Amino acid sequence: MTKQPLPASNPAALLEAVLQTNETTRNPRLKEVMAAAIRHLHAFAIEVDLTPDELQVGLDFLVAIGKATGPKKHEGILLADILGLATLVQLRNARDAVAAGGTEPALVGPFWRENQPLRENGAHIASDATPGPRFEVRGRVLSLDGKPLAGARIETWQASPEGLYENQDEAQEHMNLRGRLETDAQGRFWFTSVRPAGYPVPTDGPCGELLAAQGRKVMRPAHLHFIVAAEGYKVLATQIFDIEDPNAFEDVVFGAVGSLLRKFEPDGDGGYVLDIELRLEPGETRLPHCPLP
Ligand code: BEZ
Ligand code: FE
Repeated sequence: MTKQPLPASNPAALLEAVLQTNETTRNPRLKEVMAAAIRHLHAFAIEVDLTPDELQVGLDFLVAIGKATGPKKHEGILLADILGLATLVQLRNARDAVAAGGTEPALVGPFWRENQPLRENGAHIASDATPGPRFEVRGRVLSLDGKPLAGARIETWQASPEGLYENQDEAQEHMNLRGRLETDAQGRFWFTSVRPAGYPVPTDGPCGELLAAQGRKVMRPAHLHFIVAAEGYKVLATQIFDIEDPNAFEDVVFGAVGSLLRKFEPDGDGGYVLDIELRLEPGETRLPHCPLP
């Protein structure tokens, strides 16, 4: 075939030419994903009539996202979160499991840490110096048909009553309010903590600038994170939210969905109790990417 120059001012021919170069991609999934990305990016540029200056602003923004990412914060994850992309991907991936009675998922977020300390059931995951009302968390891990899953790994982490994760707060002990537990023979796990507070997502980077430019609120409602891994079952990443939090229905990252909003019940003695069931669907057990060392 003789090669011909691209016709000028012909976006359709340009798109075709770019898609053609993708045809030699060996990995079939990468080929499919790149073809869709190319099509959508071209359509986006046409829809908004993107100028060269605006394209440069967008590219500089991506560079700034990379520069703001480091051992303490993953700004790229934050971007996917504030655009609702992380929640969309989570919900779509779990749609069959949720339709069959599985627990709704929620995004992992940027604050899960590798090597969270192994805790016995019943342990207090807050240091003595952590202020705030006592919070008893009792969970059960079950299959979709209600079989208790023994020996499941639970990863949990939460912000302090001041709304800060331990790694954002000099005043907290290393790995405070974090833990890794294992379910007992009845699939149960339990621990004591302090009631978490809502908090703003980090706004000291390009995502903060974007949120400000959009005039958006930056708060997440109070929540606890869980990752549950049981052999032979898909890993569940989820969060349980305080339905009484003023931002319960305005989560800046759109994670507070449906059944994940729960009342933290008073225990009659100044503390609170949360009872949860976490139901997993059968499948490959693969932990999500851990954003922080
Ligand atoms: C979190 O829940 O830890 C989180 C999620 C998204 C952005 C910031 C924090
Ligand atoms: Fe969180």
